Amino acid sequence: MPDNVLRMIDVTRSFTGVQVLHGLNFELRKGEVLGLVGENGAGKSTLMNIVGGVLSMDSGQMVLSGNRYAPRGPRDATARGIAFVHQELNLFSNLTVAENLFVDGFPTTRFGAIDRKRIQRCTRECMDRFGLPVTPDTMVGSLPAGIRQMIEISKGLMKNAHIMIFDEPTTSLSKREKEDLFRTIADLKAKGISIIYISHILEDVFDLCDRITVLRDGRIVETRVAADFTETDLIRCMVGREMTQVFPSIEKDVGQTVLLETKDLRWAGKVNGVSLSLAAGEIVGMYGLMGAGRTELANLLFGVEQRDSGQIFMNGNTLPRVSPRGCIRQKAAYITEDRLHEGLLMTKPVDDNLTLVKMSDLTNRFEVVNSREQDKVNRQAIDDLRIKVADPARQMANSLSGGNQQKVVFGKWVMNDPKIFILDEPTRGVDVGARFEIYSIIVDLAKAGSAVLLISSEIEELIGTCDRILVMSGGRITGDVPKAEFDQERILELALQRAQ
Ligand SMILES: Nc1ncnc2c1ncn2[C@@H]1O[C@H](COP(=O)(O)OP(=O)(O)OP(=O)(O)O)[C@@H](O)[C@H]1O
Ligand SMILES: [Mg+2]
Repeated sequence: MPDNVLRMIDVTRSFTGVQVLHGLNFELRKGEVLGLVGENGAGKSTLMNIVGGVLSMDSGQMVLSGNRYAPRGPRDATARGIAFVHQELNLFSNLTVAENLFVDGFPTTRFGAIDRKRIQRCTRECMDRFGLPVTPDTMVGSLPAGIRQMIEISKGLMKNAHIMIFDEPTTSLSKREKEDLFRTIADLKAKGISIIYISHILEDVFDLCDRITVLRDGRIVETRVAADFTETDLIRCMVGREMTQVFPSIEKDVGQTVLLETKDLRWAGKVNGVSLSLAAGEIVGMYGLMGAGRTELANLLFGVEQRDSGQIFMNGNTLPRVSPRGCIRQKAAYITEDRLHEGLLMTKPVDDNLTLVKMSDLTNRFEVVNSREQDKVNRQAIDDLRIKVADPARQMANSLSGGNQQKVVFGKWVMNDPKIFILDEPTRGVDVGARFEIYSIIVDLAKAGSAVLLISSEIEELIGTCDRILVMSGGRITGDVPKAEFDQERILELALQRAQ
């Protein structure tokens, strides 16, 4: 077929004896944006890693613009015009922005020396395109996740490819950066470039894509023109069962006992006098735009940072000094936004990761882990959250798919039965089915008397699960909206309100 730029025929791939791709046939047309969706662990990244030359296939064939294609590595794929923006950022923290952009090969002058002027100029052009507030010499390690993600995207764009793969490119982006990216994708498409776009945010997939391909358990189950899918259809294809509800029902009482309270908290000009209180059984949402101070506030609550002034009370006790260890003793839990850096031991097996917080309860007084108990508890978490892992005792966390890593972080904290639960973007990169499980667990914890602070950038998620939504802007709380008054526009307005 002439308009296919890429075909994959009967592609298979296994990891240590577990088959992950089962003879896939996949097609990408010239100048289209193709959405690739599926549950966590369905095989999306694996499939694209084969196209990008990062992984080899066990059997099968690929045809690129009519020619046999079998890349020997990522450079080979780049040379054939394929650029890949990875799900997990591939940047080096200890190098500068410019060095990261050119890490695959520095341009040289006529005399064979590294062309520093050209590197600087190209880098500047890239940064200007998205208005990124960095210079070519900025160290990447010092930058926030959203900017790092934009640099990774710029690196992909620099390759002047005719096929571009975006694997969940928006997980750390603010609304504005996301709009810039979508505009860029539309420009690329207008130039005849073909794009594969992987995301769990189905709304974005519908907005951006011409066709959508659904992957389930390593097989392609459906490809349609996007307009021929309703959202319910698409979800059914992805999860393989009827899912009429995206949020669980939250019939429950809010208690009187206050479990978490702050008075006039202040820190580094980023948290500017926050007073809040969470009662037993209450799920309180926290909405705000990038830079509103939500993550900073969460860091203070859990003692990751020390406040400059103000008070924090947990379970009615005032805490003169808050530390993560002290919080764990108070039965508090905190799921950070940056799961890959703070949440997991990547080179340890899934089981060890799950037991990380719980360990103190599972060791007896001779410091021996009760492994039968550990097994039982872990199996339960893996089942409840539907974590896709072949061998939890041996499989390293870094071999799990992105969304399944997130589930392990969640499982690890839930197993400690938190009474105060702070979650920063817990469903990022998590598929619809597992989101429902995560929401259900949050609701169950609240029903059992825990207080939950749910930080999220998705208003729908907050409206669907919370009793009350706090809105933050400029380090202050600009709104405290009760359930009866939930309204998207109103919440967004409060988030944009300049704190006085
Ligand atoms: N190096 C590896 N060793 C063992 N198993 C692996 C390895 N890499 C991937 N897998 C397994 O392959 C399956 C598919 O993973 P993949 O990363 O392709 O999923 P995905 O569709 O991209 O999911 P997500 O939406 O969570 O990113 C998963 O079950 C994963 O655990
Ligand atoms: Mg993936």
